[in-house]
Amino acid sequence: MSKPLKGVVLAGGTGSRLYPLTKVTNKHLLPVGRYPMIFHPLLRLQEAGVTQIAIVTSPEHMGDVVNLLGSGRELGVDLTYRVQDQPLGIAQALGLCENFAGNNPLVTVLGDNILEDSLAPQAEAYHKQDGGARILLKKVPDPERYGVPRMEGDQIVEIIEKPADPPSSFAVTGIYFYDTQVFDFIRQLSPSRRGEFEVSDVNSCYVRNSRLTYGTLDGWWGDAGTIQGWHEANALARNLVYESYPSGERR
Ligand code: G1P
Repeated sequence: MSKPLKGVVLAGGTGSRLYPLTKVTNKHLLPVGRYPMIFHPLLRLQEAGVTQIAIVTSPEHMGDVVNLLGSGRELGVDLTYRVQDQPLGIAQALGLCENFAGNNPLVTVLGDNILEDSLAPQAEAYHKQDGGARILLKKVPDPERYGVPRMEGDQIVEIIEKPADPPSSFAVTGIYFYDTQVFDFIRQLSPSRRGEFEVSDVNSCYVRNSRLTYGTLDGWWGDAGTIQGWHEANALARNLVYESYPSGERR
């Protein structure tokens, strides 16, 4: 694959699971370790050489997000912003980035995902495959909190969003590599029972078309979108320092 990956960081939603921490601010601006939460996905993308990045957030918080990140220069990235008017889910937010993507493949990272591993090897693995999608799994003690793959042998045959009875002990992390077909799949989706367009349904479209591969994360990973997850992510990221943005002090 010749075209470079572009990045998307999804930072919409209402943050209701973190209320009242999110009463006057966006979840993705809360601290995780030494940084505002959204720095983590942005700096992981930057380290992997993905510098053209679209950020999707809600109208209420766009001003604060732009105040924090601006053009992205301080983080070594080139930012584009998209407004998600209604909290209709991750897949709908990603659908707003079709023009931004153009003909390039995308790596999409949820703004509340914090990870120890570099994304560079995963980006390289995706470049070597012939289009389609690649997701990243992490073994967790509580898969019912996440999207969960059902496996047959080493093949993913289905992805189920927050199953009461998880079919495996893997979480689908919020890091997804997609080709431009993702936008056709998003157009075909119907809202789930919680009224959102689910990223797990997008991934299931790729499964049905036999175009989904996966990798696993070796290091720790956290989703800071709930109180429990936010505390866990803060503990994990406590000593994390990005070489490309090393200091907690004013630069
Ligand atoms: C979202 C996705 C879920 C995924 C998780 C990873 O869940 O819907 O499939 O496993 O992110 O962070 P949410 O955190 O929005 O509940």
